[in-house]
Amino acid sequence: MRRLFAGTALVLAACAPPPKPAPPPISEFPEPSALPERAELPPLFTSFTSDDVADDAAAFTRWRRDQLLALFARYQYGTTPPRVTVTAQRTASYDDLVPGARFEEYTLTLGDAELHLALVRPNGGARPPVVLGLNKCGNQSLVTDARVRLTTSFVIPACGTSAETTRGVQQGLWPLEAIVARGYALATFHESDAAPDSPEHFAEGLRSRFRPEGPPRAAWGTVALWAWALAHVATWLDGQPDLDSGRLFVFGHSRRGKAALLAGTLSAELDGVVAHQSGTAGAALHRSLEGESLELITLAFPHWFNDVFPGFSRAELKTPVDQHQLLALWAPRRVVLVDGDDDAWADPQGAKAAAQAASPAWELFGEPGFGARLTWQSRPGAHSVESADWALFLDALER
Ligand code: GCU
Repeated sequence: MRRLFAGTALVLAACAPPPKPAPPPISEFPEPSALPERAELPPLFTSFTSDDVADDAAAFTRWRRDQLLALFARYQYGTTPPRVTVTAQRTASYDDLVPGARFEEYTLTLGDAELHLALVRPNGGARPPVVLGLNKCGNQSLVTDARVRLTTSFVIPACGTSAETTRGVQQGLWPLEAIVARGYALATFHESDAAPDSPEHFAEGLRSRFRPEGPPRAAWGTVALWAWALAHVATWLDGQPDLDSGRLFVFGHSRRGKAALLAGTLSAELDGVVAHQSGTAGAALHRSLEGESLELITLAFPHWFNDVFPGFSRAELKTPVDQHQLLALWAPRRVVLVDGDDDAWADPQGAKAAAQAASPAWELFGEPGFGARLTWQSRPGAHSVESADWALFLDALER
């Protein structure tokens, strides 16, 4: 998807734009307690620091995007380190593991850190579109076959007592045969390779290798680490000549949906996102005040965010960024939001309202937004991914 940004750069060079309003250093952004309460949503296009308005796609891309990224980094997800180079080595390839597909394993090297990727490609000549997603328990949890590499990263207790006990436990969530039968490749890695979802194991994974710049309180939380890792894997996938780099999508359920949404703001290679029941700090607006509150999410999962975000507990109206702006950072790409009718905790209506409020960003790029490239839907049922949901996700991507 680099074309979007490359194209913008050409336009910019030709038109010699006015200098962008310089945001202050991130460390100088006011503390949450010093911010005013505002019931209305923060603006999509008006500067945080001046009256400047990004009134066309070039201005949005040139400076407003950076400003929104800085606000999300400072107040919510934390800062991420600069990008590093990704290299890969294929370590295994099986033609007899998933009917209709080749199951490959790769070791990806990011600086001196490693991620272990499983790539399942449909047989046949065409360059398949790709869905990339984090998995919760390790690549071995997607299949029962004993040849697949066992994760060596931390296995959360919800998965099992050891990696060996988790073979195949997530098969229902990842219906590989059905995904490849639709013509898609599936790329996935264990989230603990990037960051274990556990405060006790906070220092493991990428966090042990990379120190983001900036004041410690603003440093990346787990959602940002996951997103940063997804963005790097997207770069590698985008460069694979036998995959369709124009249809590279990221998928995530719930907390991994939060990470998937953030990943697209860090990666121009991603062409779209399916965020399923991503909830608070995902697609749902802070200001909708339904479902999970900022107080509860930052108390229960402090490691997901930076240390500034809890400052908005019981102070949602002070947040200088809200989640429609996270969605807007995807414009004009494909955004698919899915919720469940019985999943009030994830605040489905808050996600729908965010999508509606983000729509003008697509229009700025001359594209139809809400209801077209940016969609929200709610399916019957509660908070889960069922194998049947995948048909709905892929149908939505193709509409
Ligand atoms: C909890 C949490 C949510 C999260 C969900 C999940 O319910 O409160 O924010 O989305 O877990 O990841 O399943």
